[in-house]
Amino acid sequence: MLADNRLYIHRTFDLSRLGVQNVRSNPAVGSIIVKNNVILSEGYHKKFGEKHAEVNAFDNLHNSQLTENDKLKVTLYVSLEPCCIVGKTAACTELIKQNSVTNVVISSIDKTPKVDGNGVAILENAGIKTTTNIESVVGDQIAKTRNIFAIQQRPYITLKWAVSQDGFLSSIGKQTTLSNQFSKRLVHKWRSENDAILIGTNTALTDNPQLNTRHYFGPSPLRIVLDRTLRLPFSLKLFTDEYPVWIITEQPTNTIHPINDTVTYHNIRFDHALLKNLMDLLYKANVGTLLVEGGAQVLGSFIDENLCDEIRIIKSNHIIGQGVVAPKIQQKADETIQMDSDTVSFYYLS
Ligand SMILES: NC(=O)c1ccc[n+]([C@@H]2O[C@H](COP(=O)([O-])OP(=O)(O)OC[C@H]3O[C@@H](n4cnc5c(N)ncnc54)[C@H](OP(=O)(O)O)[C@@H]3O)[C@@H](O)[C@H]2O)c1
Ligand SMILES: [Zn+2]
Repeated sequence: MLADNRLYIHRTFDLSRLGVQNVRSNPAVGSIIVKNNVILSEGYHKKFGEKHAEVNAFDNLHNSQLTENDKLKVTLYVSLEPCCIVGKTAACTELIKQNSVTNVVISSIDKTPKVDGNGVAILENAGIKTTTNIESVVGDQIAKTRNIFAIQQRPYITLKWAVSQDGFLSSIGKQTTLSNQFSKRLVHKWRSENDAILIGTNTALTDNPQLNTRHYFGPSPLRIVLDRTLRLPFSLKLFTDEYPVWIITEQPTNTIHPINDTVTYHNIRFDHALLKNLMDLLYKANVGTLLVEGGAQVLGSFIDENLCDEIRIIKSNHIIGQGVVAPKIQQKADETIQMDSDTVSFYYLS
């Protein structure tokens, strides 16, 4: 059995995960209010721009049948350091001070430059006993997408591909199904947890993918496709369904007649700074997480430029013989799961 603080912090992790699909560049955060070893209320950050986890925890407490006296001298547990800046909502440190919390227990520090320990300092200066780094290996893992966004001013980048037993992404010029039905569904879950998804021109042409979440619940990501010379036909599924798609092109956007109103063109020069400029564009558009689904050239570009925080590889038992060669990863996987015949490996790089 875990010691109390750790047990309660794990509950905040569970709550935080409920928000992952909708918080965008904000952090996924969970919070609970505890008194005399009883959880009085719970909250999590549900959606970008909406109430923070601590606010929801206090709201739920106020909605309960407790007396005013019960609300005092509570311990607040939160998966991430409370914010101390007024943004789209008021600072949570103020809310905590106003609610006579005696103890705050935190897992991870929020690396947002104006927070980064200042939230803890404000609470301690107000005489609130503050404990940090409880189960922070897990807490940091949950907070890392936001922390990368805040520190590096770009989305958290996950590269994903499926590979045959003999090391190929696909046959040449032909869509090749490698993932089984279980890992396919897992990929759709990953899509629901990312704000945007990116593919290269050849993948769009060869696979004609939809890049949505039809095999899982949750929002579909913004689809982004590289198309330097605008050689992709209007008939692709990406351009004919109802979901938004960005086309990154070198063509001047004012000369382009849009395919339909779900398609937005962005003009970026396809030079050595392409990916850097694209990341700037995504940062400004508040895209917190990016899933890169290939093909080989696009994945290779991200790897070469060290623009990858995580890699997820689905290894199938199919043998192709020859085809598009998958990128090679030298290090050992940090985590591996089995999805029936497929092996899914996770590499954490940041
Ligand atoms: N197994 C999997 O998980 C998986 C996933 C995705 C794709 N695939 C397969 O991979 C194959 C396509 O891979 P691919 O390597 O040929 O093509 P790709 O990476 O999908 O697209 C490459 C093309 O994108 C454009 N591009 C422009 N700037 C780029 C940059 N900085 N980095 C990369 N690309 C840039 C170029 O088109 P321009 O020449 O027009 O500039 C380039 O030829 C398909 O057969 C597909 O089925 C497999
Ligand atoms: Zn807050």
